[in-house]
Amino acid sequence: MSTPTIHRHSSEHGRVLAEPVAYTDNDRLHSSLAWLRANQPVTWVDVPPYRPFWAVTKHADIMAIERDNELWLSEPRPLLLQAEVEDRVKADQEAGVGLRTLIHMDDPHHRDIRKIGVDWFRPKAMRDLKVRVDELAKRYVDRMAEIGPECDFVTEVAINFPLYVILSLLGLPEEDFPRMLKLTQEMFGGEDAEHQRGEGGTEDIMAVLLDFFTYFSALTASRRANPTDDLASAIANGRINGELMSDMDTLSYYVIVASAGHDTTKDAISGGLCALVEHPDQLARLKAHPDLMGTAVEEMIRWSTPVKEFMRTATRDTEVRGVPIPKGESVLLSYVSANRDEDIFENPFTFDVARDPNKHLSFGYGVHFCLGAALARMELNSLFTELVPRLESIELAGVPEYSATTFVGGLKHLPIRYSLR
Ligand code: HEM
Repeated sequence: MSTPTIHRHSSEHGRVLAEPVAYTDNDRLHSSLAWLRANQPVTWVDVPPYRPFWAVTKHADIMAIERDNELWLSEPRPLLLQAEVEDRVKADQEAGVGLRTLIHMDDPHHRDIRKIGVDWFRPKAMRDLKVRVDELAKRYVDRMAEIGPECDFVTEVAINFPLYVILSLLGLPEEDFPRMLKLTQEMFGGEDAEHQRGEGGTEDIMAVLLDFFTYFSALTASRRANPTDDLASAIANGRINGELMSDMDTLSYYVIVASAGHDTTKDAISGGLCALVEHPDQLARLKAHPDLMGTAVEEMIRWSTPVKEFMRTATRDTEVRGVPIPKGESVLLSYVSANRDEDIFENPFTFDVARDPNKHLSFGYGVHFCLGAALARMELNSLFTELVPRLESIELAGVPEYSATTFVGGLKHLPIRYSLR
């Protein structure tokens, strides 16, 4: 069989996917992604300091790729990183000192590791946690009432509430809150100057990882000595084929839960509130019909799309939408684009709290489907169920500011003026 010719069609529009700052400007980002979906849905992006990749912008193609987890692997390139950081991460992993979390792994190891935490995210565990989540939601809405009539909703509410929820699920003490907050922001906001440690260079990124390791190594030792009824103990004492997980798998598990469960939810909460403020008719509708909260939460998660992308690498020559992709090359799955795909969503650029169906890909798809999706949904539900009926008025008190990142991000400041019952 003859090898198909590889046409690496690229376009200026594809550059947005490799430009952290493009994610701070929704109009520019979405107009480029709409162009790509219509004209070049599989496009070649070659923008240093990143290694080149294929960007996939159609919802159906992303689902097909995520469904076929034998053809498309997370290893060795699960997400977009600068080439230098990618090399360093790989070298550290090979030396046994680098983070290797669920998102980096493929089956069967991925399946074994995922099993260890999965019970803590099932409906029963969610029901047990709901009382605590509702209590925290009330605490933060009360706080808004106290500090009003103005606040930065991101720094006062959206950052703190999900972190407290995660710390509760893990079973960590509240006094560790400031430390975990700083570390997760440094880890995920690494490309944004406001959150990064130092100059944001490789050394700084590695120092952040080391701090995570130090904290969680101590936690593992203590939960192995004195197991308690929480996710941290399940992780510390998790076994595969009768053997305790390796130190690196254990540490990586804490890191993925603490980090993936925090910034993502913060972005959905603040993006959700911003959407309600910018669409007062939808806020009024939700107030009048509290039974729409379920669909409203899904729409907030679609609208904000906190996780911008993940990547997969082809294990053999293949093609996507007729575009040949050679073995070993990587595709970037643009969830941001999929969630505005005109072929899937009616009026995708309309924020509609009653949207149903809403087949958004904010939580991904397939074997890596977000482990914490039910928890994230519950958190948004608790917070907005507490907040919306108490809101007498709300408006922007400044310009919402977005973080510059190609991975996990959203609003970093949302100044609001409000009155609350
Ligand atoms: C609105 C909030 C959230 C969003 C948008 C989100 C999004 C995602 C996405 C896109 C993935 C990758 C899916 C894929 O590759 O197909 C993922 C994986 C994951 N998420 Fe979430 N997430 C959120 C909240 C949470 C929470 C609250 C937790 C837990 C505490 C969590 C834990 C995880 C874990 C552990 C994985 C890795 C799963 C695996 O690779 O098997 N996430 N999430």
